[in-house]
Amino acid sequence: MSRLIVISNRVSGQRNPAAQGGLSVALAAALREYRGLWFGWSGNQTEHFTGHIDLQRHDGVTTATIDLEEQDVDEYYNGYANRTLWPLFHYRIDLAEYDRSFGSGYERVNERFAETVTPLIEPDDLVWVHDYHLIPLGSQLRERGITNRIGFFLHIPWPPSRLLVSLPFHKRLVRSLLAYDLIGFQTEEWLDSFRHYIERELGGHVDPDGTVHVDGRTVKAAAFPIGIDYKEFQEAAGSEVAREACLRLRKSAGGKHVVIGVDRLDYSKGLEERFAGYRRFLEEHGDRRGDIFLLQIAPPSRGEVHTYEAIREHLDELSGRINGDFADVDWVPIRYVNQGYPREELAGFYRASEIALITPLRDGMNLVAKEYIAAQDPDNPGVLILSRFAGAALQLEDALLVNPYSKDEISDALHRALEMPRDERIRRWEAMIRSVREDDVVKWRHQFVAELEGCAATSKGPN
Ligand code: G6P
Repeated sequence: MSRLIVISNRVSGQRNPAAQGGLSVALAAALREYRGLWFGWSGNQTEHFTGHIDLQRHDGVTTATIDLEEQDVDEYYNGYANRTLWPLFHYRIDLAEYDRSFGSGYERVNERFAETVTPLIEPDDLVWVHDYHLIPLGSQLRERGITNRIGFFLHIPWPPSRLLVSLPFHKRLVRSLLAYDLIGFQTEEWLDSFRHYIERELGGHVDPDGTVHVDGRTVKAAAFPIGIDYKEFQEAAGSEVAREACLRLRKSAGGKHVVIGVDRLDYSKGLEERFAGYRRFLEEHGDRRGDIFLLQIAPPSRGEVHTYEAIREHLDELSGRINGDFADVDWVPIRYVNQGYPREELAGFYRASEIALITPLRDGMNLVAKEYIAAQDPDNPGVLILSRFAGAALQLEDALLVNPYSKDEISDALHRALEMPRDERIRRWEAMIRSVREDDVVKWRHQFVAELEGCAATSKGPN
C-alpha cells in the first residue's frame, strides 16, 4: 500500500478540538488508517520564515508542521483564503475583498508549502491536498519535479461561473487545478458548476465519466460526499460523558423542548436569519413561549477578519433583543453560547434535543446535521430541520428542508417539528440514518484514495 501524504492548511490537534471543522476530524481518521504523514501550518507565527519542519507523532498520526510569518498569515490565511475565496465560494460576492497583496501572499505561502514538503515525498506516495487554501499547491509541486499522483479535495462549495469570474485572475487559479490527477467535490451541484466553468471560461471539454480536457491536459473530476466517522461517533455518543451531558441538558431544560444549533460563528451558517426565523416563530405561536428554547452553540472563528467581528456583534445584539423582548422571569428563549464543546458532550446535547435547526445559507456539506442524526434514540428520534443549500440536504432528503433565508419557512418548520407524530419521526430518521451509516467518512476516503490510485502515474509537468 502506498503511503499517504495529506496536506492541508490546518493540522488537527493544534487547538481546541471543539472549534475544528469537519475537515480536520475527517483527516485525522484517514491518517490513522494509512501510513504516511499530515503536513500543514502549525497555527503559530514566527518572525522570519525558516522552513523548519516540526515532526510529531500523536494518536497514531505523524504530523509535520511549519510556522508562518505574520505577513503570511495576514495575506494568505486572513486575506486571500478567508476574505477573498471563502466569501466568494459561499456565494457572498458582496463580502469578497480583492487585494493584490492577498493574491501574492497566497502564492508565496503555497510556494513555501511546496518547498518544504517536497523533500518529504517519496516516489510511491499518494499526495492528497485539501481545501481552498491550497488550490495552486499541486502546480507548485509539479514545478519542483513531483510526478506522484496528486489529488485535491474541495471541502466548500464551488461557486457558479457568473460569480467566480468576479475574481481577478480567476483563470489562472482554476488552471492551476489542472496539475492534479483527481479533483473531488462534495456534491454533484458543485461539480456541475466546475464543469460549466471549464467549458464556458476555459473552452475545455468534460467527458460523461468526469474526465476534463483543457489545453491538452486531462484531469478527473468527481463528487465524493463526505460523511462522519459513524463508528467513532457511536462510541462518543455511548460514552459516560455523553450520557451525563444529555442528562445535564435535560435537567436544565426542565421539560421544555430543546432546539439545538451548533455552528462555527460564520456568516455562511445563516445564524442571523435563523434567529430571525425563530423570532417569527415566537411571534406567531405565542402559546409556545415558555415551552421551548433555542440552544445555539457558536464557537468564535477567524476573529481577526472584520466580517467575523461584525457578525459576532450583530448576533449578540439579535439574541439580546429576542431575549429582552420575549423572556419571562423563569424563561429565556435563546441560550446563546460562544464556546465549543468536546464531541462526546455534543453528542449528549444532540440526544437531549428534540429538534436540530441547521440552516446555513451555503455549506459544502455540514457534518453537524449527520452527527445529530447519529446521536438520536431510535425509538424516539428528534427532527432535523435543514437548509436546502447545505450539501448534506442532497443526502438527507427526509429532513424538513427549508429555505434558510425565509423566516416563514423556519417558523413553519419549527411548528411542524413540534407537532410531528412519533411514527413520522421514526420513518424519517430511519431513512436518514441509513445514509449516515453507509456513506460515512471511511467510504469517502476509500473511494477517493482508490480513484487516485487508479489514475495513471502522471507525467504532468509544470503548468
Ligand atoms: C471549514 C473549512 C476548513 C477549515 C474549517 C475551520 O470546514 O472547509 O478548511 O479548517 O472550516 O476553519 P479555520 O479557518 O478555523 O481552519
